[in-house]
Amino acid sequence: MSNVFLVGTHWGDEGKGKVVDVLSENVAGCVRFQGGHNAGHTLVINNEKTILHLIPSGILRDNVKSIIGNGVVVSLEALDKELTDLKEKGVSINNKLYISELCHVILPTHIALDLAHEKSLGKESIGTTGRGIGPTYEDKVARRGIRLIDFFDKINLESKIKKSIDYHNFLLKNYYNDSEVALDDVMSSIMPIFDKIKKYICDVTPLILDLNESSNIIFEGAQGTLLDIDHGTYPYVTSSNTTLAGLISGTGIGVDKVNYSLGITKAYTTRVGHGPFPSELTNKLGEDIAKWGGEVGATTGRARRCGWLDIKILKKSIELNRINGIALTKLDVLDKLDKIKICTSYDKLDLKHNANDIEYIEIDGWKTSTIGATSFDELPENAKVYIKKIEELANIEVVMISTGPARDQIIIMKDIFL
Ligand code: GDP
Ligand code: IMO
Ligand code: MG
Repeated sequence: MSNVFLVGTHWGDEGKGKVVDVLSENVAGCVRFQGGHNAGHTLVINNEKTILHLIPSGILRDNVKSIIGNGVVVSLEALDKELTDLKEKGVSINNKLYISELCHVILPTHIALDLAHEKSLGKESIGTTGRGIGPTYEDKVARRGIRLIDFFDKINLESKIKKSIDYHNFLLKNYYNDSEVALDDVMSSIMPIFDKIKKYICDVTPLILDLNESSNIIFEGAQGTLLDIDHGTYPYVTSSNTTLAGLISGTGIGVDKVNYSLGITKAYTTRVGHGPFPSELTNKLGEDIAKWGGEVGATTGRARRCGWLDIKILKKSIELNRINGIALTKLDVLDKLDKIKICTSYDKLDLKHNANDIEYIEIDGWKTSTIGATSFDELPENAKVYIKKIEELANIEVVMISTGPARDQIIIMKDIFL
């Protein structure tokens, strides 16, 4: 059957959760493959908002299996909280959630290290979500991480965790001059949660392949292309491969299983956290767009920086992820504008924000509501011009247009499941 890989084309928060939710009507599996609870994916169904951080966005559908691949870093506390919140909303979890035994575990000391490191960087901080993501991936690569599979080896687990905590505490105390975290506190916070969630842990690769024999699957990217550890705006990035390569290593499936690569592109660009952003609007207009778009971080509640759509990044993203088509989201947020710009070029993306070699093209706004439009024909003429211009500049087909946060506020131009 056919599979869709879904990736944010810029710096995250493009509306991936919403699009996954729409597309998951056609699938039996929804798979996360990288990142952790630094993500915040928002779904709005029947006026009810749900923000998912770690659990795949298919979880709200009863017939979809939600699978967390080996590339994801798992905080047991965050998982427990998210499961509790979902259960409170009446969402059933049993026989729907599967977590790879190879996932690395975020310990409380990883969070302490993330925060201490950010503090030590002062003005040069990355602006991380403070969820311990970076330090956990560091330990993974350094081959001293703790994986979910280690929790089944009761005899050696505590000494393994002790070794890890000792090392973290050494850094916290001696390098960062910060407070240490007691091993007993770590054990007493995570062990009861592990006992609750261990039923979800398994080898997920065969499960994905099995499901795929008879059904479609969505691979749900987190963060965005420019936050990729290799291809993003390093060092202002996250610590995983958010792009196509991350899907392969983060699940164990082959690249031949990716039938369609769908870029999720916001009709303007945003960024949360620090780092370069060439098309950023640091004026009242940027603030207005943030207000109209509700651009507040779904994970940390921080204000998102806003700017014009950056086509140069979109093109890079299309290449890196072998994108076949894009879902253009939040078109309605631009409804009030007299003029809309598209950023088409600048010399290079370095660490200065204000490169003065930036070029824009400008089109007239449509100044009519597009909220809730469900067909291309009903869009105002200038909105059509804007969409066609994006297609032409980036040489890509727009296959979906999102016209509001809710599940049914969507224009579907093409069925992307082959
Ligand atoms: P993600 O991280 O890519 O899943 O995106 P987030 O959920 O962090 O941020 C997207 C925000 O925009 C959420 O508040 C969504 O409810 C909202 N949203 C998604 N699509 C649309 C849209 O087409 N129009 C409007 N106005 N809001 C949208
Ligand atoms: P979703 O999946 C936007 C950003 C942080 C920071 C940088 C590193 O909702 O699009 P980290 O905590 O990962 O070490 O932070 O990455 N960041 C995101 N920005 N959306 C996200 O996820 C993000 N996840 C991390 O703000 O700049
Ligand atoms: Mg988000």
